[in-house]
Amino acid sequence: MTGSKPHVVALCGSLRSGSHTRTALQHVLDAATAAGATTDLVDLHTLDLSVFDAGSQDAGDAAELRRRVGAAEAIALGTPVYHGSYSSPLKTAIDYCGFDEFEGKTVGLLAVSGGASSYPGALSHLRMVAQSLHAWVLPHQVGIGAAGEVFDETGEFHDEYADIARRTTTLGREAVSYARIVPGETSTRPVTVSGND
Ligand SMILES: Cc1cc2nc3c(=O)[nH]c(=O)nc-3n(C[C@H](O)[C@H](O)[C@H](O)COP(=O)(O)O)c2cc1C
Repeated sequence: MTGSKPHVVALCGSLRSGSHTRTALQHVLDAATAAGATTDLVDLHTLDLSVFDAGSQDAGDAAELRRRVGAAEAIALGTPVYHGSYSSPLKTAIDYCGFDEFEGKTVGLLAVSGGASSYPGALSHLRMVAQSLHAWVLPHQVGIGAAGEVFDETGEFHDEYADIARRTTTLGREAVSYARIVPGETSTRPVTVSGND
């Protein structure tokens, strides 16, 4: 893939029409596109994915989901905050996937809440899930509180939320910057360590 454009895939954990999470993820992908990536927004609302049954892992559109996530070099996981954590549709989608789709991949996290600042739990829980799949999770993450106030009717950030807009753009840019990092082997920022002797 070297020389080709990095491919960034976003998974939206809200099925709701007019989802703020979907709007925010589109901003992430727009920033990734501007940084030179190809992108794909997987809208779980459009896929037939029943509640995960480990005895029926190829149900419905599971194969399509795995194909699209498997094509990613970086994955943006976006979730609404439901009862202090991430959403069940996103967990269902992740459970239909596994190491084949996530291991060694760069993952960026975004959570959107109705309350002003109730997203840290969702972000922490998603981080643990992504790490359990051996993904390389970006330190930078985005929490968007008071979601109903942040976007205008066209989906743009209101001016007073410019800082969140910047953080969202940074997530898309970093997904591209680190899409091809090789965990454990290389660093794009070499560190010189000096000893005491
Ligand atoms: C079942 C459910 C649980 C929710 N729990 C919380 C919560 O714990 N904290 C919070 O701030 N907002 C909570 N909300 C509000 C959502 O986080 C908020 O509406 C968010 O914008 C939904 O994302 P969406 O616009 O992408 O659908 C909850 C909403 C639902 C439907």
